[in-house]
Amino acid sequence: MSASSTLKEIANFPNHVAVVPDGNGRWAERRGLPRFEGHRAGVENMHSVIEYFNKLQLKYLTLYTFSTENWKRPQEEITGLLHLLEEVIDKEILELHKKGVRLRHLGRLDELSPDLQQAINKAVELTKNNTGMTLSLAFNYGGRTEILDAVHHIIAKGIPPQNIDEELFNSYLYTAGLPDVDLVIRTAGELRLSNFLIWQSAYSEYYSTNVLWPDFNNKEIDKALLSYSQRRRRFGGL
Ligand code: IPE
Ligand code: MG
Repeated sequence: MSASSTLKEIANFPNHVAVVPDGNGRWAERRGLPRFEGHRAGVENMHSVIEYFNKLQLKYLTLYTFSTENWKRPQEEITGLLHLLEEVIDKEILELHKKGVRLRHLGRLDELSPDLQQAINKAVELTKNNTGMTLSLAFNYGGRTEILDAVHHIIAKGIPPQNIDEELFNSYLYTAGLPDVDLVIRTAGELRLSNFLIWQSAYSEYYSTNVLWPDFNNKEIDKALLSYSQRRRRFGGL
């Protein structure tokens, strides 16, 4: 039996894993390369991570690919990163579709370039009826913006306050229909949430590793899953 199938059978396999890939810049710096090369390696690693989680039959995987705060970076880095992400969606989508992966987008789409919007829309549309892993790309995503967008919609619809409960609120988030996050993984040793799924990860388990994102391989995923499987989640109870 392979390590991965053993892992899948251990108790407490998560339903929804959300990842904050960090450390592309540091990875490049350590090799004396420009930051862009770190992003290139990081995007390549997304491919392997998606493939491995899919093999493990994870149901929901969410990746923080570009935050609303990333617009503060130098223009050149933003352009490079966005081009890379657009390229990768176009390049990978047919293979993902073949594997039955369903793609979702979380974030403000209308602030992205028309080409990028089209690439994302096309990929979401193509895969919308797939029944395999749901891969959500948080792209131009911010947790506070998401909550405000939901509030605006609820008010615009004239929904009376007594009807607003957690279930209704959930249905106005970008993540409508997705389950709460069980495990948040962050690489490069940072211990921050950085405005990522702040509503949906209220009861998540956190896992942080010093490994930089481009080096976060299958063995590192196994370690994260093993750590998760040993936690006892109490959701505020005993
Ligand atoms: C993560 O790597 C990639 C994105 C935020 C898109 P960073 O670019 O943040 O890498 P460091 O933190 O500078 O090493
Ligand atoms: Mg960083």
